[in-house]
Amino acid sequence: MRAARTSSIDLAGPLIAWFARVRRDLPWRAEPRDPYRVWVSEVMLQQTRVDVVVPYYLRFIARFPTLRALARAPLDEVLALWSGLGYYARARNLHKAAQAAGAALPKTAALLRELPGFGPYTAAAVASLAFGEDVPLVDGNVARVLARVLGLPGDAAQARVLAWEAVPALLPHGQAGVFNEALMELGALVCTPRSPRCAECPLESQCKAAKRGDPESVPLPKPRKPRPQLTWAAAALFRKGALLLSRRGPGELFEGLWDLPSAPVTEAGAAAAALDAARSCGLSAALVPAGEVRQTLTHREVHVLLFRGEARGRSAGVGGARELRWVRAPQLSELGLSSLARKSLHFVGVSSP
Ligand code: ADE
Repeated sequence: MRAARTSSIDLAGPLIAWFARVRRDLPWRAEPRDPYRVWVSEVMLQQTRVDVVVPYYLRFIARFPTLRALARAPLDEVLALWSGLGYYARARNLHKAAQAAGAALPKTAALLRELPGFGPYTAAAVASLAFGEDVPLVDGNVARVLARVLGLPGDAAQARVLAWEAVPALLPHGQAGVFNEALMELGALVCTPRSPRCAECPLESQCKAAKRGDPESVPLPKPRKPRPQLTWAAAALFRKGALLLSRRGPGELFEGLWDLPSAPVTEAGAAAAALDAARSCGLSAALVPAGEVRQTLTHREVHVLLFRGEARGRSAGVGGARELRWVRAPQLSELGLSSLARKSLHFVGVSSP
């Protein structure tokens, strides 16, 4: 695939002038830019909308104001502050990279790429926005904007590949940071996936898709495969008012986060699976059904059948394969919990205060 010819167009001038007028005043945009804060915001913003990110970002920076503070923190605390934001590998990598970086983040995209979790986008975002390096970037918003303006063919994934090829020729010398941020802002505010506001767009006169009158149909939709459904049974085991939580193991979905002990439902049925989950913690219980919760993730749908009961047996956690903890509601804010786990806990009557 070849990228469209781009050399004769000037996107940067009108784009940067537009951005100066409308840019949102977001907490990570305070000048002078703090590279660590730019990095945290960029990681949080991957796959997540600005309005969702802002409160998480503010809590995270209040608790870990510097690279050093993040590097020194226990992973559990980092996951606790990430709880509900999803894509938890981002938090694990952020923590790992903070520990690997030493005193400060390196100043070029090439060196940032050597840290865990820094892909081409994150490295270019930090290098251009925080250090002023002249490097381009493409995220989902930028790919969509360039696909429309330049008339790139294909679906979103193909547009992304072609946009990475096309974008270096568009970059204004010495202004990569503001150009990159303006492109992302345009994708977020004007050149939206549905109902783009072309009348407000500084690039409308140069936009191939607008000229054709069908910007919304670019990039082409990708045929959606149905998501596989996972069905788990989970046991809410109580003892003297405390609830047993189990930490999800390496390689498992929601690795490192806390949840009710659970097991996949097999032909033996959900009740048998819930009992298996209890036994894997060294406990048994007379379990009764307590409802069900669902969560749609990017690549699968998870369905959890809940059971509850008073725990019988020896104290859990001794010598077992899983890390276990008896908790009460006030302790939940200290733990990394997925939104799915939070829903399950709410259902069995244990919610964060
Ligand atoms: N999405 C990700 N990073 C962004 C940024 N710096 N500005 C606007 N949207 C973004």
